[in-house]
Amino acid sequence: MIIFLVGFMGSGKSTVGQRLAGRLGYSFVDMDARLEGEHGMTINEIFEKLGEKAFREMESNLLKEMVSLQDTVISTGGGLPCTGNNMDLINREGVSIYLRMEPEALLNRLSRGKSRRPLIRHLTRQELSTFIREKLSEREPVYMKAHHIVSGLNFKMDELLEIL
Ligand code: S3P
Repeated sequence: MIIFLVGFMGSGKSTVGQRLAGRLGYSFVDMDARLEGEHGMTINEIFEKLGEKAFREMESNLLKEMVSLQDTVISTGGGLPCTGNNMDLINREGVSIYLRMEPEALLNRLSRGKSRRPLIRHLTRQELSTFIREKLSEREPVYMKAHHIVSGLNFKMDELLEIL
């Protein structure tokens, strides 16, 4: 089985994914980290040198490779499910979990973690707040297609394990 964690930047996909994989005895793949390793560039550098469109193609291609894995937890980049038919592919090939978080909680997390994220690194707190609200309302209908929806802020591993 493949388990995909989806959700907005800062919702805790990588941390939860790693812990979940540990509990299940599964492998763990962080797609952003994998892309950085494969291309020898940080996500910031990929956006700067090749542009967002190229990044979206890279992550969609990586997703197509990922679906042949077994017993793996995969944390996806926040924009991946929203490109093309990626969310449908995720749902067809694996079990998806949306780590849901309110805009206020995301703002607090992302104000601290924005430097390695090209879409938000240059934004002031006020701009970031607006960005989160707008982007989340655009993306949430896609995230909501996930098989399971759990709280990212009050995340409880045992509850997730029970759902699965
Ligand atoms: C992005 C999210 C990032 C990364 C890139 C773009 C997005 O991943 O893929 O900076 O469009 O939301 P995280 O969700 O792991 O921060």
